Amino acid sequence: MISIRSEREIQAMRKAGRITAQARALAGSMVAPGVTTHEIDTAVRRFIESHGAKPSFLGYAGYPGSACISVNDEVIHGIPGGRKLVEGDIVSIDVGAYIGGFHGDCAATYACGGISPQAQKLIDVTQQSFWRGIRMARKGCRISDIGHEIQKYVEENGFSVVRDYVGHGVGAKLHEPPEIRNYGPAGHGPRLVPGMTLAVEPMVNAGGWQVRVLPDGWTVKTLDGSLAAHYENTILITEGDPEILTVTEDGAYV
Ligand code: MF3
Ligand code: CO
Repeated sequence: MISIRSEREIQAMRKAGRITAQARALAGSMVAPGVTTHEIDTAVRRFIESHGAKPSFLGYAGYPGSACISVNDEVIHGIPGGRKLVEGDIVSIDVGAYIGGFHGDCAATYACGGISPQAQKLIDVTQQSFWRGIRMARKGCRISDIGHEIQKYVEENGFSVVRDYVGHGVGAKLHEPPEIRNYGPAGHGPRLVPGMTLAVEPMVNAGGWQVRVLPDGWTVKTLDGSLAAHYENTILITEGDPEILTVTEDGAYV
């Protein structure tokens, strides 16, 4: 069952989304040579807690961080630690915040200093694929229309879409139905209805789509060692254009 949020619940989700987007922006602003992923994680936790919210990921299925920080060929779920970022790294940061009974969930990939043109293209295509996909996040469209658009755009640009992990409904729980694939044929799955809140999150590899999980049980890497990028926002289905809930007060989406 896909939840339809009331106006009061949507207001609460806007608040959770704003804090989550601000935490993402803070984390992204810290990406620089010499900074450890642990330092970024600590700043994210402090920021979220100082706003009266809880980091959604901390303790989720035993996850030890407040942010997932995935560098270069790490796709998602990288565990923060002592790794020092170096110039040329691309750094995917995924954050969630829970307040007033609702979660926000968002991610973006950031450049550490100067990066290769290929890495910059990967980041840009991944972000753009999200915006392409949510052109279909409209009343009456089907869930699979979103992923179909994402896959088309990503593959036109010579990259591939991860199959093993998907977007999801988000709200009172971090992961709710429906599953939102970033690939596959259009015209399948439930029809979108105003009041649905969804986390749309393309994960894009520069090489093949296959991934593997490291022995730490969390970190997902590309199988072929190619670079990966991630971009995610929590969105609201409306009577018209989708509303991005994970946006800062200044209107920033990264
Ligand atoms: N943002 C991730 C997602 O969208 C959640 C991270 S998994 C966690 O599914 F365990 F770290 F929370
Ligand atoms: Co998510």
